[in-house]
Amino acid sequence: MCGIVGIVGNTPVAERLVQALKRLEYRGYDSAGVATIHDGRLERRRAEGKLVNLAHKLDAEPLAGTIGIAHTRWATHGAPTENNAHPHFTDGVAVVHNGIIENFSEIKEDLKAAGATFSSQTDTEVVAQLLAMLLRAGLGRREAMHAMLQRVRGAYALAVLFQDDPSTIMAARNGPPLAIGYGEGEMFLGSDAIALSPFTNRISYLVDGDWAILGREGVHIFDMQGEPVQRPQQIASATAFLVDKGNHRHFMEKEIYEQPEVISHALGHYVDLLENQIRPLDDAIDFARISGLAISACGTAYLAGMVGKYWFERYARLPVEIDVASEFRYRDIPLSPSAAALFISQSGETADTLASLRYCKELGLKIGAVVNVRESTIAREADAVFPILAGPEIGVASTKAFTCQLTVLAALAIRAGRARGTITSEQERELTGHLAEMPRIMSAVLNDIQPAMELLARDLSKYKDVLYLGRGPSFPLAMEGALKLKEISYIHAEGYAAGELKHGPIALIDENMPVIVIAPHDRFFDKTISNMQEVAARGGKVIFITDAAGASASNLETLKTIVLPHVSEIIAPMIFSLPIQLLAYHTAVFMGTDVDQPRNLAKSVTVE
Ligand code: G6P
Repeated sequence: MCGIVGIVGNTPVAERLVQALKRLEYRGYDSAGVATIHDGRLERRRAEGKLVNLAHKLDAEPLAGTIGIAHTRWATHGAPTENNAHPHFTDGVAVVHNGIIENFSEIKEDLKAAGATFSSQTDTEVVAQLLAMLLRAGLGRREAMHAMLQRVRGAYALAVLFQDDPSTIMAARNGPPLAIGYGEGEMFLGSDAIALSPFTNRISYLVDGDWAILGREGVHIFDMQGEPVQRPQQIASATAFLVDKGNHRHFMEKEIYEQPEVISHALGHYVDLLENQIRPLDDAIDFARISGLAISACGTAYLAGMVGKYWFERYARLPVEIDVASEFRYRDIPLSPSAAALFISQSGETADTLASLRYCKELGLKIGAVVNVRESTIAREADAVFPILAGPEIGVASTKAFTCQLTVLAALAIRAGRARGTITSEQERELTGHLAEMPRIMSAVLNDIQPAMELLARDLSKYKDVLYLGRGPSFPLAMEGALKLKEISYIHAEGYAAGELKHGPIALIDENMPVIVIAPHDRFFDKTISNMQEVAARGGKVIFITDAAGASASNLETLKTIVLPHVSEIIAPMIFSLPIQLLAYHTAVFMGTDVDQPRNLAKSVTVE
């Protein structure tokens, strides 16, 4: 992961670099650092922990200079100490890096044998040391950069400053994203367009294998062979969004409450609300003809895909293979080129998801991408792009992106069902009519349940372990509930298929482990209630999330019953997401954890 940024400016850059890093903190926040060149000298400030520590350091010891690079780190090699923080310096070369240099040990051994001494445990330092050695060997800066890139293997977005050249930043990309921003007499570099949005919206993206030389007046881009290449300039949409918390305490809270609005954007894009039908989609995937669908994603996006599997199979009678992206390509799945593959990713940059996409592409499958960031690598490499239109999601724990992903998957499944003749136009009207009710129902639910969830969170925060149960599409939701709780409150939680309870987890049930049962009154309800009985019979405390019909159909004593309105089956996963998000949020707030930036996590995971 990590975020990188660079400015070749004509006014001091340190403050602007920190401002840009603030927008990249979602990529990691183990440490941060800035380097500039001033009066012919490279200087840096680095600090362990959140960006605010670096900002304080810069207040105490400001950095002058109109050219600089900066970094926010998610540690891979070496502990998150100041010593391992970027930029790394060697003999007048400064480097910031996002990714992993896979052959760093081999290069390090060679450099050590040639007399180099290392001052950090990072893989990144080999880049600075290698460049310094190549310069000492007599190569020019450009030749040294090209030679270094031919030696390193792995995933990288790099920015390099040379003390002897205070008017140039060099950059390279192989894997993690890197955007070039065009200003007036200034040039910018950043891990994404949002980081650069205060400075410019004129952006071009380096592609894998590209490297670039940025000066105040423009950029020269080269391919792996060193041949000049052009990358088109585009106007980034990111600047349209104001990335702030509004009146909310945390981005996560803001994003939970934004859901009715962003879902109506997504609905407007996919559903013709006058005709109650799904609008024509990008036709690069011919749903009528494909033999199956392979879905792959990570984290919350994977759980959205699991709900999607139920829909594609039920409404479009389309067989679905699904796996977490980090495993998908190791299973040797016999995939037919007549199948299509769908990749779900909020950021569109997750390394495992991207690797699965490229694997399917090589096998000849048509590729669809359900993404939030339309300019992302996954979007650019897909044949068909299905944007989720959630707007920037800053909280590391995904909320609105999840429900928007679900909305888009539901629309795709209905459209696929129509294309394959497995649902009628009457059924399409009915289903899209239900989708259209979501924003209104979500607003009402968010208002109604908030106080109850806050109270319940106080109780939940006393426990060390929590079990979530669900059946049918509520099963992935149970896993999402557990994931949300563990990632931001650090309470251990597991999500299980309700029917699996008796095959193991039931052994854990006692008064110290609350069981959260997600059970709308649907065709699975009776069976789930039997599983709830099994919990109650063993003294387990049940938190029951259901609807009015479900609440009156069960006479079990619960620790708390949360009653939602009765909704149709297709929108239940989106509506029942709200209590589990609020419960995790309020538990974390009550426990005083860092809700938007939980420990050890990052929002965009660009390493495998
Ligand atoms: C990280 C984030 C999760 C996210 C997952 C996949 O683990 O913390 O919230 O669901 O990556 O990210 P993507 O951007 O591909 O949806």
